[in-house]
Amino acid sequence: MKVLVTGGAGYIGSHTALSLLASGHEVVLLDNLRRGHRKAAEIVVNIAGSRGAFVEADVGDANAVAAALTDHGVEAVIHFAALAYVGESVELPLQYWRANLAGSLGLLEAMDRCGVSRLVASSTCSTYGCPDAEFIPIAESCRQDPVNPYGESKLAVERMVRAHAAMKTRSGTPFAFALLRYFNVAGCDPQGRLGEDHEPETHLVPSAILAALGRRPPLQVFGRDWDTHDGTCVRDYVHVTDLAEAHIAVLEKLNPSSPMVFNIGTGRGDSVLEVIKACERATGRTVPCVDAPRRAGDPGLLIADARKIAAELGWRARFSSMDETCSHAAQWFTANPRGYR
Ligand SMILES: NC(=O)c1ccc[n+]([C@@H]2O[C@H](COP(=O)([O-])OP(=O)(O)OC[C@H]3O[C@@H](n4cnc5c(N)ncnc54)[C@H](O)[C@@H]3O)[C@@H](O)[C@H]2O)c1
Repeated sequence: MKVLVTGGAGYIGSHTALSLLASGHEVVLLDNLRRGHRKAAEIVVNIAGSRGAFVEADVGDANAVAAALTDHGVEAVIHFAALAYVGESVELPLQYWRANLAGSLGLLEAMDRCGVSRLVASSTCSTYGCPDAEFIPIAESCRQDPVNPYGESKLAVERMVRAHAAMKTRSGTPFAFALLRYFNVAGCDPQGRLGEDHEPETHLVPSAILAALGRRPPLQVFGRDWDTHDGTCVRDYVHVTDLAEAHIAVLEKLNPSSPMVFNIGTGRGDSVLEVIKACERATGRTVPCVDAPRRAGDPGLLIADARKIAAELGWRARFSSMDETCSHAAQWFTANPRGYR
C-alpha cells in the first residue's frame, strides 16, 4: 500500500516509515520540519529507494496535502503531525489548537477531496486526563477528561475523525479509521538507523541518557512523594519500534464497518527511578539527578490496559524490558552525540 506519513520527519513517524518499508509498503513522508529533522526523512527516503519520497508541507494546508496525495497515488494515511508537549500547550494553547486541530482538519479535507478514505491517527493517553486509581490500568472505555490543551486538542481530533467517518464522503467510499492512544514512547530503531531528537527534550529516557553522557544538566525528578512503590511517577513505556508495528497491524485491518480505538502500551509500569537505573546500566554511567517539586497536572500513575489490541489483532510489545529500550536509545545517542545535527 502507498502510505502518506504526516509528521514523517519526527520521532515516531520516521520509525513507523521504516516499519512500513519492512512490511513491503511504500511511504510518502510529509512534514513542515517545525520539530522534525530533514536528516531523518533523508535516511528513510534513502532506505526506501524508489518506494519513498519526502514532501515539505504543512498538514493544515489542504491544497498542499491534496497535491501530495494525488501526485504520489496515496492509498492510506498515518497521521502523526502534531505539537506534543503538555507543558508547552499550557503556555501556547492557540498554537496547539492550530497545529493539532486545524492541521488535522486540513488533512481530512484533502483526503475527502482526493478520495483517500483510510486513516490511522495518533492519539494519546493525555486524553484520559488523571483517572482515579480504580481505573488503572486504563482501558479504552475510561472516560476521556483531558486536563491540558494538548490532551484537549487530541480529543477534539478524535471527535472530528469520528464525525467525518459518520458522513458520506465526497467520493462515496466509506471512511475507515483507527485511533491509537499511545502511552509513553521510548527507545530507538534497534539497528541504530534512527533515533529520538526533540528540541526541547522533555521525555525521560533521552533526558536521562543525555544527562549521563554530560550533554545536559542533571535530570530533574519531579516529586518523590507520589503514592507509588518508590515515591516517583510510574509510566507505561512502549518501545517505538513496537509502536510502529502496531500501526502496520492496524493499517492492514482497516475496515469502514468497524472503526478501531486502541491503547498502545505494555500494561506494565516503570517508575522514574527504575528508568534512571536502566539508563545507568545502558550507558555504564551515573545519571546526575536533582529533586524538583511535582508538576501541576502530572498524574502519579499511568498504565495502559492494552489487552484490546492483543485480543483483536494479536499485537503485543516485543521489546518488553526497559533495559532493552534504554540500550537501543543509548546506542543511538552514543553514535550520534549531536542527535541529527
Ligand atoms: N512521543 C510520545 O511519547 C507520544 C505519546 C503519545 C502520543 N504521541 C503522539 O505521536 C505523534 C508523534 O509524536 P513524536 O513524539 O514523534 O513527535 P515529533 O515532534 O518528533 O514529531 C511530530 C512531527 O510532526 C511535524 N509537524 C508538527 N506540526 C506539523 C504541521 N502542522 N504540518 C506538518 N508537520 C508538522 C513536526 O515537524 C515533527 O516532525 C504526535 O501526534 C503525538 O501527539 C507521542
